[in-house]
Amino acid sequence: MKEKIREMKREDIPNIMKMEKELFAASWEEEMFIEEIEKQYAYVLEIKNKIIGYICGWKLLDEFNITNIAVAPDFQRKGFGKVLVKFLMSKLLDEKCFKFFLEVRESNQAAKKLYDKLGFVVIGLRKNYYHSPEEDAMVLGTNLIKIIKKRAT
Ligand SMILES: CC(C)(COP(=O)(O)OP(=O)(O)OC[C@H]1O[C@@H](n2cnc3c(N)ncnc32)[C@H](O)[C@@H]1OP(=O)(O)O)[C@@H](O)C(=O)NCCC(=O)NCCS
Repeated sequence: MKEKIREMKREDIPNIMKMEKELFAASWEEEMFIEEIEKQYAYVLEIKNKIIGYICGWKLLDEFNITNIAVAPDFQRKGFGKVLVKFLMSKLLDEKCFKFFLEVRESNQAAKKLYDKLGFVVIGLRKNYYHSPEEDAMVLGTNLIKIIKKRAT
C-alpha cells in the first residue's frame, strides 16, 4: 500500500471530521482544524486518494507541539502512525526545530506505544487535563538536537 502525505486543505475537513468523531470521545470541532491549517503544520496521509490519517501541530521557535494525530481504524497497526510522526519530524528538523512535545491520555496505550517507539519520554503530568471522560494527560517530549548536529557534520 503506497501512501502519500500532503498538506491538509479545508475541503478535507468533512472527511477528517468523520474520522475524528469515530476515534475520539472528545473530538475536535471543525474550527480547530481550520486553525491548524492556518498555522501551516497540518498534513493528511492518503492511500489511493482516500484520507486514512492526519497529523497537525504548531511551532514556536525550535519547539513543536503535536496537537492531533489519528489513523483510520482499518489502517491502524500498519506503521502509518509512525510514518506520519516521522514525516513531521523530518520536515521540522529541516527547519532547525528539534524539540517535540505532546499530551496523551494516560489510558491511550496505542498512542503511548507509538510515541515510545519514536523516542518520546514522559516529562510531566497534567491533572484532569481531558474531559469526556475526565483523565490526566501525560506530557511527553523528545529532543532531536543530536540529529541536527550530525546533519551539520
Ligand atoms: C495512536 C495511533 C495514531 C497509532 O497509529 P498506528 O498507525 O496504529 O501506529 P503504528 O502502526 O505506526 O504503530 C506504532 C507502534 O505502536 C504499536 N502500537 C500501535 N497501536 C497499538 C496498540 N493498540 N497496542 C499496542 N501497540 C500498538 C505498534 O505495534 C508499533 O510498534 P512496532 O514499531 O513495534 O510495530 C492510532 O492508534 C489512532 O489513530 N488512535 C486513535 C487516535 C489517537 O488516540 N490519537 C493519539 C492522540 S495523543
